[in-house]
Amino acid sequence: MKALILVGGFGTRLRPLTLSVPKPLVEFANKPMILHQIEALKAIGVTEVVLAINYQPEVMLNFLKDFEAKLEIKITCSQETEPLGTAGPLALARDKLIDDSGEPFFVLNSDVISEYPLKEMIEFHKSHGGEASIMVTKVDEPSKYGVVVMEETTGQVERFVEKPKLFVGNKINAGIYLLNPSVLDRIELRPTSIEKEVFPKIAAEKKLYAMVLPGFWMDIGQPRDYITGLRLYLDSLRKKSSPKLACGTHIIGNVLVDESAKIGEGCLIGPDVAIGPGCVVESGVRLSRCTVMRGVRIKKHACISSSIIGWHSTVGQWARVENMTILGEDVHVGDEIYSNGGVVLPHKEIKSSILKPEIVM
Ligand code: GDD
Ligand code: MG
Repeated sequence: MKALILVGGFGTRLRPLTLSVPKPLVEFANKPMILHQIEALKAIGVTEVVLAINYQPEVMLNFLKDFEAKLEIKITCSQETEPLGTAGPLALARDKLIDDSGEPFFVLNSDVISEYPLKEMIEFHKSHGGEASIMVTKVDEPSKYGVVVMEETTGQVERFVEKPKLFVGNKINAGIYLLNPSVLDRIELRPTSIEKEVFPKIAAEKKLYAMVLPGFWMDIGQPRDYITGLRLYLDSLRKKSSPKLACGTHIIGNVLVDESAKIGEGCLIGPDVAIGPGCVVESGVRLSRCTVMRGVRIKKHACISSSIIGWHSTVGQWARVENMTILGEDVHVGDEIYSNGGVVLPHKEIKSSILKPEIVM
C-alpha cells in the first residue's frame, strides 16, 4: 500500500520554529512530526510514502534517509515548482500512487496528530464501497476546519464545507484520507483544493464516507494547539501504560525526558512536558505544559510554563517564561528575565523582560 503526505505550506503559524526547519521536521513529543505519521503508516503495511513538497526537499530527504533504512520503508519526494494546494500534489504524484494492484492509498495532512487508527480506516473503507473515506472528529471551534455533515449510521457524507462562516456542524475533517485511484481522475494538475473542489463533488455523488476517529486528535500547526496536542498525546501514552513516560518524585503527571537529558536536584517537572536530547536542566527548575527542544540549557530556579523553547537556547537563572512564549533556535534569555508570551526569532539575546505578548525580531 502507498501513502502521500502533504508536506507543503510554509508553516508560518509555527514560526519562529519553522524558520529553522520545515514544519514536518519540528519535533513533537521528542520526535519529528512526520515520523509519527511514517511510523503509523509502516505499522499497517504501507511500503512507500510520497512526500508532496514545495520547498527544501533536500532538507527533508537528507533527514529521512536514515529512517528509510531503519523503518524499511521507501520515502520519495514529489516536488512542486509552484504550490499546488491540497489536491494538485496528488495529480502531480499520480504515477507514484497508482500501480497494478488498484489498491486505495492514504493521504495525510502533515500537521495532524492522533493515534492514527489506519487499520480501522481500511476496514471502514472496504465496508462502504464508496470512492473515498475521510476521518472526522468533533471540535469546539469548527470554523477553523473543514466541516462534514454526514448520515450518522452509514457515515455517508452529505456536505463538506471548508472553513464555514456560519455554523454547519461540529464534525470536522481530520486530514486523514483513504482514496481509490479513481479519485485521481477528478483532479487536474493545477493549484487546487481537495477540500473545496474535490470532496464536495464526491459527496454530491454520495461516494464520500466519513468515519469518526476514535481517540484524540489535534492539528498541531499553531503553538497553542501544539501545546494542547502534547497534553492529549501524553494522556494517550498514559492510557497505554507506556514505559516512555518519566517517573520519580520530581515528576508530576505525564512527562517525557530524553535519556540523554540531565535533570538537576530539586526540580519539579510536569504535567505535560517534553524534554529533548542533550538538554541540561539545572537544579530547582519548575517546568509545566512545555516543550524543551534538543540541546537547551535551563539555568537554576527558572520557571517555564505553556511555552516552547527552541533548539540550543538557554534560559537564565530565576527567569520566568510563560503564556505561549515561543523561543526560536539559539535564543538566550538572561537571568531573572520575565517573558509573557514573547515570540522570539532565532539567535536573539533577551536582556529585558517582555511584559506582554509580542514578536521580538
Ligand atoms: N504539497 C503541498 N502543496 N502541501 C500543501 C500545500 C501545497 O501547496 N498547501 C498546504 N499543504 C499541506 C500542509 O502542509 C498541510 O499538511 C496540509 O496541506 C493542510 O494544509 P493546512 O494549511 O495545514 O490547512 P488547514 O489546517 O488550514 O486545514 C486543513 O486541515 C484541517 C485539519 O487540520 C484542511 O484539510 C481542513 O479541512 C482540515 O479540517
Ligand atoms: Mg493544518
